[in-house]
Amino acid sequence: MSLVEGELEGPTVFKDLAKLDFDFVPDALPGREDEQRKLASIYRGLAQGATREHALVWGPVGTGKTALAERFARDLAQALGKQGKAMVHVRVNCRKLKSAGLAALAILSKFDPNRPERGFSIGEMLLDLRRHLERRQAHLLVILDEVDALLRSDGSNLVYDLTRFNDDAGPSWVGVSLLMVSQENVLPLLDPAALSTFKQTNVVAIQGYAAPQLEGIVKQRVQLAFQSGAVDADTVLLVADAAAAQNGNARFAIEVLQKAGRLADDEGASRVTPEHVRAAQGDTFSYITTTKLQALPRHVLLTLLALARRLKREGGAYATTGSTEEAYKLACEEVGEEPRAHTQFWKYVNQLKDGGFIVGRLSGKGQAGTTQFLSIPDAPAAVVEQKVAELLRAPGRQP
Ligand SMILES: Nc1ncnc2c1ncn2[C@@H]1O[C@H](COP(=O)(O)OP(=O)(O)O)[C@@H](O)[C@H]1O
Ligand SMILES: [Mg+2]
Repeated sequence: MSLVEGELEGPTVFKDLAKLDFDFVPDALPGREDEQRKLASIYRGLAQGATREHALVWGPVGTGKTALAERFARDLAQALGKQGKAMVHVRVNCRKLKSAGLAALAILSKFDPNRPERGFSIGEMLLDLRRHLERRQAHLLVILDEVDALLRSDGSNLVYDLTRFNDDAGPSWVGVSLLMVSQENVLPLLDPAALSTFKQTNVVAIQGYAAPQLEGIVKQRVQLAFQSGAVDADTVLLVADAAAAQNGNARFAIEVLQKAGRLADDEGASRVTPEHVRAAQGDTFSYITTTKLQALPRHVLLTLLALARRLKREGGAYATTGSTEEAYKLACEEVGEEPRAHTQFWKYVNQLKDGGFIVGRLSGKGQAGTTQFLSIPDAPAAVVEQKVAELLRAPGRQP
């Protein structure tokens, strides 16, 4: 067996890496049920005789907008198909195809992949599109993803043309519905003619995920992509908390999960532990930079040092505030400082939270009550311990 073959066949925590791909769209989108329902109610008319419906979905990056649009389009096509109504959909990434011509060509190539790229006006392309749809007797849902890029660089003509696609031919199932997706509310970017086809009720504003929703998303990916038992429950919580601290970005969660898995594989470990997550995050994105740490007062650093030590020693994702406070007192003794009172310690903890150095959650798995559980989400505890200890020893540090 060659060295490469040995590596390829070595043990792994993964069972299907494709399920961690950003293009993969799961059957269910935990935490986006309300938005799926809202879209269904907006496009419901298509099942009831309407010949077109349009909507806008907008919200911050990594909040599942593209996944939501794609999942919705597939589910809608299936539901309408059961009623004998043929619907197809096409998604155009307007960040990549910023002109009306390129976007129109991308829509058309769904039906005519070998079409020559140049030499046709948008009007001609839309006529061809109609012919293709007539032939299939199909309705088309066009998803214009990252539509702000198109609107900014080429205006709203294509949006207008698509929303009015059915006008000339009279009412018919053969036609176009539009679903615009963007990081911002783009209605102000539409000119009045295009805007008139949009109602405020057709706007779905998306918020970043909170930790419990991210937990559901991470759990789902763990089940799809990892060997059973390969990912600790605490690991899931830690990834969710870390992504919640990144504005509720699910993409961040999935990326960290994948990197943590790769680190476990590199070590030949059979389980993905919180320490792998911290290392993966230190890699992906790190708040814990020396410059930021340098700005912290001495007792706040001692608190962070205490938490890092507890996490390292206990090997879990979280340590309780009680156990962290004990470690804080020990750390103070070591450097000849008088430990501050409990209420003051709490203030240090909150200062670390506000600075994004640590995260807290109330009561973890298996433990009752309202104990606070603390964690350092985005760097290995060992690295934080070492950096903070160095800073505390540095000569000339102000208290
Ligand atoms: N509710 C969810 N359930 C499962 N996966 C999700 C969910 N929301 C987002 N994701 C995943 O997170 C990543 C980022 O989502 P994406 O739709 O690309 O976000 P956006 O388009 O808002 O930037 C993708 O891999 C996507 O599949
Ligand atoms: Mg997107």
